[in-house]
Amino acid sequence: MSDFTSNFWDFYIVILTVGALLFCVWILAVMGKSKKEEKAANSTTHVWDGDLTELNNQLPNWWRGLFWVLLIFSVGYLLYYPGLGSFKGLGGWTQTGQFDKEMAALEAKTKPMYDGFLAMRVEDLAKNQKAMGTAQRIFLNECARCHGSDAGGAIGFKSLRSGAWNWGGAPIEIEESIAGGRTGVMPPMGEVLGGEPGIKAVVAYTFSLSGRPHDTNLVAKGETLFEENCAVCHGADGKGMKEIGAPDLTDNVWDYGSSEKAVMRIVEFGHNSELDEGGFAMPAYKGVLSEGQIHLLTAYVWGLTNR
Ligand code: HEC
Ligand code: HEC
Repeated sequence: MSDFTSNFWDFYIVILTVGALLFCVWILAVMGKSKKEEKAANSTTHVWDGDLTELNNQLPNWWRGLFWVLLIFSVGYLLYYPGLGSFKGLGGWTQTGQFDKEMAALEAKTKPMYDGFLAMRVEDLAKNQKAMGTAQRIFLNECARCHGSDAGGAIGFKSLRSGAWNWGGAPIEIEESIAGGRTGVMPPMGEVLGGEPGIKAVVAYTFSLSGRPHDTNLVAKGETLFEENCAVCHGADGKGMKEIGAPDLTDNVWDYGSSEKAVMRIVEFGHNSELDEGGFAMPAYKGVLSEGQIHLLTAYVWGLTNR
């Protein structure tokens, strides 16, 4: 109720609820008074089919008794649970409290299973079919909306099956990616490169590294520009640097599109998966998922390319 800006609606609900209960009491107490009249006087004077007379008899006692029991129950219910405006109820029950309790019970139930997984090496866990079934369900719930249900990714959302790891593909590196999240920052290089001619040249050189079609006349100029501006992050050989998530530019795997236009765009404007419009960084799952679940997912992701 605290979502409302005034407490008018609190009172509105209290008055409606209490009013409805009092109305029921009134009907039962006043209208239900025993009528000891004679059968004749008791008639509503509605007669059908010659001799079928509608009577105004008292309601049966069991029925009225039941109604009283229900009324008393509702009063008790409204005292114990929140239901009357902003009154929190004497029982201290809340929806979130109940949810937390159920989650804690679930965690207590699954803890032995996850403790077992935690004790296993990623390499063995990835071969355990039952464990991978559980892992896949978590992946579909938590990860598929970005990486795709088959982990194949999409432009801007890394494929986890390409075998090209920006942050490293060893179990411990994958676990770190999931637990801590990752935000790669490629700075905008358009100005430093002197605009389009420089960008074109460096992209031509980049394409020469991965065997893509390119303008060979531009490669020499592009190589110089690369050494001066890009090697610090992508490495002198262009093979990337996993400490800062700089991708390998020689593997012909492109997270943001492989066309000359797409790559020129990334080089000119850079890319920051957290700050760019419509961009999503890899969220940190520590604290969101349990340690055991993260370990299980690590095995699942590792297993996609190592089985
Ligand atoms: C909101 C979208 C989003 C969700 C949800 C998400 N990811 Fe990611 N993930 C990304 C992005 C974007 C990157 C690339 C980050 C970067 O390099 O800047 C990434 C990177 C990764 C990497 C590192 C890849 C590499 O090349 O080294 C791993 C591993 C990974 N995600 C696994 C997962 C798992 C497992 C889950 C589910 C628990 C998950 N992700 C959920 C967006 C997401
Ligand atoms: C400060 C470090 C840094 C510098 C300098 C840098 N890059 Fe990057 N680059 C990155 C990072 C980190 C990413 C990944 C960004 C992401 O995933 O959000 C990236 C991504 C890219 C991509 C996208 C690759 C793909 O898979 O789609 C290309 C292309 C690229 N860089 C080329 C260059 C070129 C050419 C230069 C030099 C003109 C350069 N970079 C300079 C760090 C850098």
